[in-house]
Amino acid sequence: ERTNVLHITSRDIGKEVTFRARIHNVRKMSAKLVFFEFRQQTATIQGVLTVSSNISEYMVYWAEHIDVESIVLVKGKLQEPKAKQGEVVATTIHDAEVLVQELHVEARITDSLPFTVHEAEIAKTDEKDGEVRQVVGDRTRMVNRILDLRTTASQSIFRIQSGICNLFRNYLDSQGFIEIHTPKLQGGATESGASVFKIDYFGRSAFLAQSPQLAKQMSISADFGKVYEIGAVFRAENSNTHRHLTEYTGLDIEMQIDEHYHEVLRMLDRTFKTIFKGVYERYRHELDVIKHQFPIDDLVWIEETPRIPFAEAIRLLNESGWRGENGEPLPENEDLGTRDEIQMGRLIKEKYGTDYYILDKFPASARPFYTMPDPENSEYTNSFDIFLRGQEILSGGQRVHDADTLVAQMEKMKVDPATMEEYINGFQWGAPPHGGGGIGLERMLMLLLGLGDIRHASMYPRDPKSLPA
Ligand code: ATP
Ligand code: AMO
Repeated sequence: ERTNVLHITSRDIGKEVTFRARIHNVRKMSAKLVFFEFRQQTATIQGVLTVSSNISEYMVYWAEHIDVESIVLVKGKLQEPKAKQGEVVATTIHDAEVLVQELHVEARITDSLPFTVHEAEIAKTDEKDGEVRQVVGDRTRMVNRILDLRTTASQSIFRIQSGICNLFRNYLDSQGFIEIHTPKLQGGATESGASVFKIDYFGRSAFLAQSPQLAKQMSISADFGKVYEIGAVFRAENSNTHRHLTEYTGLDIEMQIDEHYHEVLRMLDRTFKTIFKGVYERYRHELDVIKHQFPIDDLVWIEETPRIPFAEAIRLLNESGWRGENGEPLPENEDLGTRDEIQMGRLIKEKYGTDYYILDKFPASARPFYTMPDPENSEYTNSFDIFLRGQEILSGGQRVHDADTLVAQMEKMKVDPATMEEYINGFQWGAPPHGGGGIGLERMLMLLLGLGDIRHASMYPRDPKSLPA
């Protein structure tokens, strides 16, 4: 039976253990004594190898020369940790150390490492500006992604990513939704014409889906009632920012509305809260490990999520003295820039004490053709964004379900109805009132965990500059 290092506690002291691990770090103390850190995914444990009746000085010499990152099979006995060598970090199992009796190399290192995973976990204070920085920079990590993924922080990030999808899926299943899978090969653009990847489709043009938007609405026309999808989304935006990818994972929902589009908002709000609660309940160890590399406070959210009309939020910004890039107060009918959004997040945190909130009633000029206008004021719409720590993680709203209005809005916004015949048919054949929203998985993970750059939240990130062969 193999031991999972993460589960070792002080109650296990005295037990014999066998486990596979990587050599995370080696510290040679003398010709007779060497300390190891063995790493297994999100945890490390100290190992001691010392000369004894079974272990020769030659064996110690051989062991201390095994390359770090080699995979070894360790056999030994758990004992009270005598002296902790090196840094004590969140990843270390503090309750015991292993007195090594046997060590077998199972996989050798045959090429030099650009950095060690141990180095990738160290942050140092910069002497010049006092900032705490990682010893291994982000670019180096991204071009050597496999090594960076071995860090206990990355191991934890992707466990939480998987957990978020699981929580999303389970919650919506419990609410009567069905999971759907929509095609990523499309005949037209859905969000904005400029940002689609065009591909050759047997001599015709096709596009990679910018959103499951049309297909999820078609499922409502087809009477599926409540649907969701977890799938790839492609954006040909040449946005080299901390929060844009060219391929990301969308968590999308679409549902019928009985009386009011706020039913959609309530469903989304409960989904988010289920996810936040689930993450903080299930992943305490992983959260602590991640904080070692990416320090941040736990997310704060409140019982009654603030739902602030867009125009009111702009007034809040303007009244605080905030000015746009041109030095003028912000207009109430244009979308916000990233700087403005972040400042808005600060003001809302001060006023309501939450990192998570909803902006409702977006201006029509900032929304796609399928968005339902506000029946009381056609400059605005029945649509919303949801924010986490001052940045957008979801867009959504009520959709136009009347075919004539839909075609009129398409024409006004210069979208060609000819590429969307099947979609429009769905409305001509009668569709119920409905709405939905789309979450960016990596965006949410980055903001939840304070990773600073969306690439840390994507296992193999795609951005305009990266496309490995
Ligand atoms: P959405 O498509 O939902 O609006 P999004 O917020 O990621 O998703 P955009 O609509 O493209 O993307 O842009 C919205 C925000 O992102 C704006 O605040 C805009 O200022 C910012 N943004 C987009 N591209 C860039 C860029 N290249 N550099 C800086 N900020 C950008
Ligand atoms: P939108 O275009 O706002 O809306 O996208 C929804 C969410 O997806 C995330 N997102 C991104 N994440 C990473 N890289 C990108 N380039 C990127 N662009 C967007 C954000 C955003 O909030 N059809 C609508 C959704 C709907 O109305 O149901 C849509 O796609 O988190």
